[in-house]
Amino acid sequence: MKAAPALEAEHLFLSFGGVQAVRDVSLTVATGEVLAIIGQNGAGKSTFLNMCTGYLRPERGAIRIAGCSIVGLKPRAIARLGVARAFQHPQIFPQRCVIDHLRFASAAARPGFWNPFRPLNSPQSAQDVLQLLAFFALDKLADQPVRGIPEGARKLLDVAMALALEPKLILLDEPTSGVSSAEKLGLMTRLVHALRARGVSAIFVEHDMDVVARFADRVAVWVEGAIFRVGSPEDVLSDPEVKEHVL
Ligand SMILES: Nc1ncnc2c1ncn2[C@@H]1O[C@H](COP(=O)(O)OP(=O)(O)O)[C@@H](O)[C@H]1O
Ligand SMILES: [Mg+2]
Repeated sequence: MKAAPALEAEHLFLSFGGVQAVRDVSLTVATGEVLAIIGQNGAGKSTFLNMCTGYLRPERGAIRIAGCSIVGLKPRAIARLGVARAFQHPQIFPQRCVIDHLRFASAAARPGFWNPFRPLNSPQSAQDVLQLLAFFALDKLADQPVRGIPEGARKLLDVAMALALEPKLILLDEPTSGVSSAEKLGLMTRLVHALRARGVSAIFVEHDMDVVARFADRVAVWVEGAIFRVGSPEDVLSDPEVKEHVL
């Protein structure tokens, strides 16, 4: 039997007051696929991701993660199914250092995390943390308080923490926002390399079309709450109507 896709959304709807933020959205992400979402501000991209992680509940429609229906589940239950989202502000404890944040995320991925008598850094998780630090070039900053590190490093820590949770599907809402164009490429190269090495499926919302063209397997274009186009980056980004409405 063929494995279920990483994510299936079918006919999703959600309004806020009079605003139809998401209108009849259906989208599938295959296992191991990296899908980019593009579209102007207010198009409904974040609302969609928030429904996939359980922070918002669709009025209508279905969402399945690896075949398991998640509408109505709490965010923590959805996280346990292997869905991670990058933390918008990774400095949970601004005075704590970079490596502590990764230790915390890595420990959270393991059984028994909620047992207060269990040590935070098991040998396995300690090894993973060191690997992630090296992979995201954060090793030099390991002992620095998160409060003082540069924005680019903070974004790297953000995605490293999401990966430390050992997800099957990762949802990244504008992972390169606030990062200089010089740092963007490095961040996305490391991120996508890590996703592919681990076979993690991903959706990322992105405004930089060079990043989209370079790193996405497919692109979904959103206009006013609905999906306007889905296809390969080459096809979608050269589409005259996409250029007119979105780019
Ligand atoms: N919590 C909310 N309450 C009311 N309106 C919201 C809320 N979240 C989003 N919206 C509205 O829904 C629409 C889609 O927003 P959003 O999903 O944030 O778009 P995007 O992420 O594509 O910029 C916008 O019109 C926005 O103002
Ligand atoms: Mg948004």
